[in-house]
Amino acid sequence: MPPRSSDHCAAPLIFEQGALGRANRYVESGKPLETFLPHRLLRDDLPLPDNSELDVVRHFTRLSHRTFGIDTGFYPLGSCTMKYNPRVNDAMANLPGMRDLHPWTDDALAQGALQVMYELERSLSSLFGMAAFSLNPSAGAHAELTALLIAKRYFKELGQTRRDKVIVPDTAHGTNPASAAMCGFKVISLPSDARGRVSLAEIEKVLGDDTAVCMMTNPNTLGLFEDDIRRIAAAVHAVGGLMYYDGANANALMGNARPGDMGFDLMHLNLHKTFTIPHGGGGAGHGPVGVAAHLVEYLPTPVVAWQADPDADPSLAPSDRLRFRLDFDRPKSVGPVRSFWSNFAHAVRALSYIYANGAQGLTKVSQLAVLNANYLRVKIGEFLDIPYDEPCRHEFVASAAGLKKRTGVRALDLAKALLDRGYHAPTIYFPLLVPECLMFEPTETESKETLDGFVAALREIVQTAERDPEAVLAAPVTTVVGRIDETRAARYPNLRWRPRGEALQR
Ligand SMILES: Cc1ncc(COP(=O)(O)O)c(C=O)c1O
Repeated sequence: MPPRSSDHCAAPLIFEQGALGRANRYVESGKPLETFLPHRLLRDDLPLPDNSELDVVRHFTRLSHRTFGIDTGFYPLGSCTMKYNPRVNDAMANLPGMRDLHPWTDDALAQGALQVMYELERSLSSLFGMAAFSLNPSAGAHAELTALLIAKRYFKELGQTRRDKVIVPDTAHGTNPASAAMCGFKVISLPSDARGRVSLAEIEKVLGDDTAVCMMTNPNTLGLFEDDIRRIAAAVHAVGGLMYYDGANANALMGNARPGDMGFDLMHLNLHKTFTIPHGGGGAGHGPVGVAAHLVEYLPTPVVAWQADPDADPSLAPSDRLRFRLDFDRPKSVGPVRSFWSNFAHAVRALSYIYANGAQGLTKVSQLAVLNANYLRVKIGEFLDIPYDEPCRHEFVASAAGLKKRTGVRALDLAKALLDRGYHAPTIYFPLLVPECLMFEPTETESKETLDGFVAALREIVQTAERDPEAVLAAPVTTVVGRIDETRAARYPNLRWRPRGEALQR
């Protein structure tokens, strides 16, 4: 096995074998550099910046201050749970036994890490009422695809390959229909009713013996609880279909309601949202997939298996006398969907969060998230339209359609003006069924003072828009870049090498 960085004895060996070792031998030998380095790596001229260490530190510190993050300000994104990531999670993930473990370490030497995965899997299963979870997928969308592969394999086993339709309500995140299409299913889009929910009558119209899966998000992306959920699940099951729960909004219900009890057969969680894992810019997620008992054998490999350890100290509790191993031998599995142990450090962070809060703490987390969202809903409702104005769960949507008609100021302009006031923009223009939509999810970790400050800033922007729309249309004026054409930037990126000394072309 290669030496570990935590192993002090290994350090001189690494240096001796590495670049530093070669450099030392070159200096000591007095021989030409070519003796030690391949010719292709040699440079005649290597212009190095003429900056002191302090200048470099200041440069990067200045850049870091220009980045907006949850550690610097309120992040009211809807549908994307941006809450505080407790530092203790990182401390746990950085323990040498967790951080330095090689993914090819023999199971016998990785018992602690396997126990982390086992305990996380068990905790998630009991919190959400599922028989088992796979920790393999590394994001919500990846988990959706995995769950649909499981459904496909299940129907194949049953000889029901005619089931090729996946029902997706119009409030769903775009990844739901995309995952279904990627998996080869036909997508049936379901309109919401006047209350922003899926109606039983509408769903019954599209159910049939070709129904494979009904994908639902509950609470949905309007922040509304699907109050017909059990009847909907019964109707889908009656035609032999499966119910899939998109758990991206699980921050609304931890410890208060369980998808398993609502009749869901498959689900995913976004650990990077609900379970306090730093994320953003599309990076480093973790999306475990949970299944009911009849689908356990289809879960991706490997799964953590366990047995009683005959050699364990008998004075330990039975739960501490287990021996774990990675089980790859599961003939009906859809197979691996991710290399090695997925984002293992995230599993450590999530378990750390679960143990730090306990069952009661997690229940309270969701209750506070719902309370904060309703506080914000009522306050923002004083100056913006709230299309579905009823008690919400963890998020809600407002609309700037009326404001736009009166002043020309759109949801986008309000979002830009918030940046000037030190707040991250909320999610805008999603879900699509609300015109000029702004979606807010304050999460449980914000204080009343922060929420009041945010409401005051947004109120002031709306008042400015009514009086002087141009002032809002010009925003943002304090950020490093103003308005950019984001679609154009993404489609036609202008990436060029800028030679030293040449001015930046805008
Ligand atoms: C409701 C919902 N479902 C699924 C996803 C996809 O999750 P991920 O971004 O981890 O792929 C999101 C992401 O924002 C979401 O809000």
